Amino acid sequence: MFDPKQVRKDFPILGRVIHDKPLVYLDSGATSQKPKVVLDAEREYYEQHNANVHRGAHTLGDEATQMYQDARSVVARFIGGQSQEVVFVRNATEALNLVAYAWGLDSLRAGDVILTTEMEHHANLVPWQEVARRTGAKVELVKVSAQGLLDQEDYKRKLKLKPKLVAIVQVSNALGTINPVFEMTRMAHKAGAVVVVDGAQAIPHMSVNVNDLECDFYVFSGHKMLGPMGIGVLWGRGNILESMSPFLTGGGMINEVYADHSTWAQVPEKFEAGTPNVAGAVGIKAAIEYLEGLGMDNIRKHDEDIVGYALAKLGEVEQITLLGGRDASKRSGSVNFIYEGVHAHDVATILDSLGVAVRSGHHCTMVLHNALGITASIRASFNVYTIHEDIERLVVALGKVKQVFGR
Ligand SMILES: Cc1ncc(COP(=O)(O)O)c(C=O)c1O
Repeated sequence: MFDPKQVRKDFPILGRVIHDKPLVYLDSGATSQKPKVVLDAEREYYEQHNANVHRGAHTLGDEATQMYQDARSVVARFIGGQSQEVVFVRNATEALNLVAYAWGLDSLRAGDVILTTEMEHHANLVPWQEVARRTGAKVELVKVSAQGLLDQEDYKRKLKLKPKLVAIVQVSNALGTINPVFEMTRMAHKAGAVVVVDGAQAIPHMSVNVNDLECDFYVFSGHKMLGPMGIGVLWGRGNILESMSPFLTGGGMINEVYADHSTWAQVPEKFEAGTPNVAGAVGIKAAIEYLEGLGMDNIRKHDEDIVGYALAKLGEVEQITLLGGRDASKRSGSVNFIYEGVHAHDVATILDSLGVAVRSGHHCTMVLHNALGITASIRASFNVYTIHEDIERLVVALGKVKQVFGR
C-alpha cells in the first residue's frame, strides 16, 4: 500500500492556497490533477523531440513517431489489448462518438434497438440518440433502482428485445456504482449485441483488462487518470475495427488517394485523421507508468478506503442525503449527495470559499437525476492523492452552509 500523503508531494497543484485556505481538491471525477512526471514528460517531448509523426524524413520525426507508438503499446499493455486495437482520440466522448458514427451508422437499421442505461453520462447516451435519429433505431434505457444500482431484471427483460448494441458505464460518475460489466457483457453477447463499455471513471481507480471484461469496445480519457487533457482512448476488437468505415477522413488515415476515391490505412491509423496529440500520448504513457508504480490493486484499496470514510463521515451530517449504495466495496471514485433545502450550487460556492472544490449540478447525467427525482447534486470525487483530512475539511466546511442558511 502507498502513503497518499507521500503521493501528494508529486502533485504541485495540491500546494495551492484558495481563499487563504490550503486547497482540498474533491473534483477528480471531473478531471484529476497531474503528477510532476506527467508534466515533465510533456515538457521534455516539446523541448527535445517535437515533430510531426509519420511524415518526418528526419531524426526528430522518427523520435516523435517512436514515442507516439511506444505510448500506444503502453496503453495496450495496461488494458490487456493489442497495440493495433488502441485508437488515440481526444477523450471518452470522442471515442463514443466514433463508435456511434463509424459502427452505428453502418450497422443499425430502422427498428433496431440500442440498449443503454439511465445511469449513463451524456457522452454514452446523446451519440446513441443521434445515431438512432439518423437510422430509425430506437434507444431503450435500463432502469436504475432506488439504491442506485442498475435494475438487472429490467436489463434481462430489455435484452429480450435483441438489441444490436449494449452501451454501459463501468463506474457511474454520479452515483459511484460499480456495475457488473462482465456479467452484463456475457448476457448481451448471448442476446447477439455488440458491447461498448464507458470506462472513464473506472480506469483511474482499478485494474481493467478488456479481455477479461469480454467487451467489444472500451473507452476512456487520459485526463481523469492523472494524464493530460486532449488525449483519450478507444479500444476496439481488431476484427470489428477493421470492418468499420472511418469516422474522420483526411491526412494520416489513408493508404492511397485518387481523384475520385481513396483507400484507408490499416487500423488504428484508419481512425486517426490529421495530426495527432503526440505530447498527450507521451503524457498518458507517463500517467500509466505512475499508476503502475503505485499498483492498480493498491489504488483500488485506497479508493475503497476513501469512499468508505466519506460515506461514514458524510452520513453523520444531518442535512445530507447520500445517493447510491452504502457499500464501499461496490463503489468507486466519488460520494454524491444532496443537502436538504439548499441548492447544490450554493453549497459548492460556500465550500469553495473555504478552499474545498467539489462539483455541483447534474454531472452530465440529467436522465439519472430525473429518475432519482432531483435536479442537482453535489459530488466529492477522489484520486490517489485524496486523504482522510480532505473529507474532514469537507465536513467542517459543510457546517458553514448551516451557519449561512440556518439549516
Ligand atoms: C462516466 C463518464 N463517461 C464519459 C465522460 C466523458 O469524458 P470526457 O469529457 O473526458 O470526454 C465522463 C466525464 O465526466 C464520465 O464521467
